[in-house]
Amino acid sequence: MSILRLPVLDNRIVAQPPAPSNGLKVYVETYGCAMNTADSEIVMGVMASEGYASTDVPDDADVILLNTCAIRDNAEKRIHERLDHLKYYKKRNRDLVVGVLGCMAERLRSSLLDTKLVDIVVGPDEYRRMPGLVEDALGGDRSTAVKLSRVETYDDIVPLRTEGVSAWVSIMRGCDKFCTFCVVPFTRGRERSRALQSVVDEAKGLWDSGFREITLLGQNVNSYRDDVSGHDFSDLLAYIARAVPQMRIRYSTSHPQDMSDKLINTMAEHDNICKYIHLPIQSGSNRILELMNRTYTVEHYLGRIERIKKIMPHAGISTDIISGFCTETNEDHQLTLDVVREVRYELAYMYAYSPRENTKAWKMGDDVPDEVKSQRLAEIIELQRRLANEVNQHDVGQTHSVLVEGPSKRSSMQWKGRTDTNKLVVFPHEDTRGYVVGSLVDVRINSANTATLHGVLV
Ligand code: SAH
Ligand code: SF4
Ligand code: F3S
Repeated sequence: MSILRLPVLDNRIVAQPPAPSNGLKVYVETYGCAMNTADSEIVMGVMASEGYASTDVPDDADVILLNTCAIRDNAEKRIHERLDHLKYYKKRNRDLVVGVLGCMAERLRSSLLDTKLVDIVVGPDEYRRMPGLVEDALGGDRSTAVKLSRVETYDDIVPLRTEGVSAWVSIMRGCDKFCTFCVVPFTRGRERSRALQSVVDEAKGLWDSGFREITLLGQNVNSYRDDVSGHDFSDLLAYIARAVPQMRIRYSTSHPQDMSDKLINTMAEHDNICKYIHLPIQSGSNRILELMNRTYTVEHYLGRIERIKKIMPHAGISTDIISGFCTETNEDHQLTLDVVREVRYELAYMYAYSPRENTKAWKMGDDVPDEVKSQRLAEIIELQRRLANEVNQHDVGQTHSVLVEGPSKRSSMQWKGRTDTNKLVVFPHEDTRGYVVGSLVDVRINSANTATLHGVLV
C-alpha cells in the first residue's frame, strides 16, 4: 500500500501583490474551455492588484463580467440569454458595470454595446486594461478593447486562483493552425508561448501553496516553443516534472500533427506526468480532414495512437469529433465510426458542426441537413458510450492511485478523485483514517460505468 500523505496548505489564498481595497466587488462567470477558466483567474488577478475584491454572489457585485465562448452557435446563444437576464441586475443597481470578455467579445466587438446593457467589451489580449476600463465605465464611459497581440502571455500576472487541489497553468496563447471550421485563430490571435523558466517557477509556487496537480493549457500545447532557449513542449514537461516531482502534471490540448515520439517518451519517463492524452481526431475520413485543414491523415493519427499504446499501454485517450461537416457523406460518417471502434476512447467530446462566420468553412457552405447531423451525432455518441463502458470494465479489480479532490457530487459520505488516466473515481470516505483533500490514495475499483469508477480504499 502506498499512501502519500501530504500536508495540505491553505490553497484558497494565493499571494497577490498587496493592494489597498477600493471597496468594489467583481463577479465573473466563465463559459467555454479551460483556457477561459484560466483567463478569468488572470482577470481577477489584475483586478485584485488594483484593489477589487471578488464575490461569488452577483447581487453583491459592482462589476459583473461574463467571460465568453464563440466556438459554436449554441455557446453564443447561451450567453445572449444570460445577458438578457442581467438586465434585472442592472435595474436593481443602476451603477452596475457589465463586461463581456473572451472569444465572443473578440468576435462581436462593439456590436455588443448596441444594447444599453453592456458597458465594456474586452478581448483575450486586453485584460491588463481591465481596471482602467472598469473605472471609465463607472464614470459613464462605455468602451471596446479588442486588439490582439503577438506577444501578450500575461507571464508576470499572478492569477487569482480560488479553490481545489488542481490548478490551470496557461503556457501559450492563440493558435496558428487555422482549421477551416474554427474561430479560435480569429478570437485569440497568433500563437505565442511563455518563457520556460516562468512556467517552471509558477509550478514550484503552486506546489508550495498547496496545489497537488497542474494542467498545462494551450490550444495546441505540443507546438509550445520557448523562443529564447528553443526548448519544446517535451522539454518543458521534463523540467516541470523534475522541479515538482510529487506534483501531478496534465496537459490539454494536443494536436495529432505534433504528437512526437519525444513527447510520448518524455511522458513515459516521468511518473508524475499523467498518462492521459486528449488527441482530437475530428473526423475519420481523410477527405473531410483535408477540407478541415487538419494537416494529418487517419493513418498518421492511428499510427500515433499505436505508438502511445506501445510505450504507455494503460494510457487514457480521449478525443473530439465533429459530425456533419460540409459535404460529409454517410460513407465519411461510417469512417468516423470505424476510428471510434478502433481506438476505443476512454472519453470523447462530440459536436454537430456549427458554421462560424468568416472561417474558410463558412464559405464552403453548410450542406448537411440538421436532422442528418443530429442523427449521425447520436450514432457516434451511442457507440462511444457503449465502448467507454466496455473499456472501463477493464479497471474493475485494479487498484488506482487517486488524487482526492473532495466530497462527491451525490453524497458527502463519498470522496471523489481522479486516476492518473483522468477517470473519475468515487469511493466511501472513512474519516477515521484521516485522509484529506489533496492526498494520493490507493483505491480498488469494484464497478464501472460509462463515466465513473466506484471503489474502496485499500
Ligand atoms: N485546439 C483544440 C480544440 C479547441 S476547440 C484542438 O485543435 O484540438 C474544441 C473542439 O470544439 C474542437 O476540437 C472541435 O471538435 C470543436 N469545434 C470547434 N469548432 C467547431 C465548430 N465550428 N462546430 C462544431 N464543433 C467545433
Ligand atoms: Fe481551432 Fe484547429 Fe486551432 Fe484547435 S487547432 S484551436 S480546432 S484552429
Ligand atoms: Fe470557446 Fe474561446 Fe475556448 S471560443 S472553446 S472560449 S478558446
